[in-house]
Amino acid sequence: MASLRKGKTVLITSTKGGVGKSTFALNLAGIYSTIEKKVLLLDLDLTSGILAMSLNKKYNKSIYEMSEDIKNNVFEDFSNYTLNYNKYIDCIACPKDPRDASKIDLRYIDIIIDQASFIYDVILIDSSHTLSPTNLYLMDKVDEILFVINNDPLNLKSTRSMVSILNNMNISNYKVLLNQSNNPFKDYFSLYDIKNIIQANIDYTLSSEFYIADIDKLIMSGKIVTMSSDIARIYNKDYSSLMNIATDYLNQGSDDNGKK
Ligand SMILES: Nc1ncnc2c1ncn2[C@@H]1O[C@H](COP(=O)(O)OP(=O)(O)O)[C@@H](O)[C@H]1O
Ligand SMILES: [Mg+2]
Repeated sequence: MASLRKGKTVLITSTKGGVGKSTFALNLAGIYSTIEKKVLLLDLDLTSGILAMSLNKKYNKSIYEMSEDIKNNVFEDFSNYTLNYNKYIDCIACPKDPRDASKIDLRYIDIIIDQASFIYDVILIDSSHTLSPTNLYLMDKVDEILFVINNDPLNLKSTRSMVSILNNMNISNYKVLLNQSNNPFKDYFSLYDIKNIIQANIDYTLSSEFYIADIDKLIMSGKIVTMSSDIARIYNKDYSSLMNIATDYLNQGSDDNGKK
């Protein structure tokens, strides 16, 4: 049901690929579905997004057709462009043909995000790890930015550069998620070291215990890990962390997000 209250927009990004952003976005959407909040997964990893594929449902239109229709004044109802996963989770896919990515004007993405915020409680925006014009625009646009990092020397160094860029841009509405779950054997640095290297706090952690050995099987069947039965019991601690992140984003007001 549409509401006048604006939903929270969250950009999930990183300085390196393969750190688990997309998997995290899907898992967080699963949590929102469980607590009966409407969530939009917006795939703005425009050239190599995987969200719609991971949900394994048919869809006709992507963000590219959506932006073309806005441009040509033939935009239909928002729901005509979303992949409907269940009662709570919708997804807007990245372009089927990656060559269309560069044809999408940021003005239309802006309109799409604004419209979505009147329909959904939360809009989770998955992105690429590059400092592209799209990502720079998104960092300025969203209520909250979440940097996903791994315990990896190069990733940590590039995150440190990013933190200083954000400070320069007066952006302080970001949080850091240390994801140990997709690379459980990378544990060289302690939490203390990591904070020192990146010069920022670690707000959330997903531990190596959350490594899902048969994740590919789940992906192939379009299942979201956090919606599987027993998950809360088996991965108790990390499930609580995910729930914590989910409720934090629902509760934080968009007025105190630190934007200048
Ligand atoms: N908790 C997890 N357990 C096992 N494998 C994971 C987990 N999270 C992510 N992965 C795997 O790690 C790889 C990178 O994850 P992905 O979410 O695609 O990263 P990104 O979006 O940052 O590029 C994928 O093969 C994914 O299936
Ligand atoms: Mg990804």
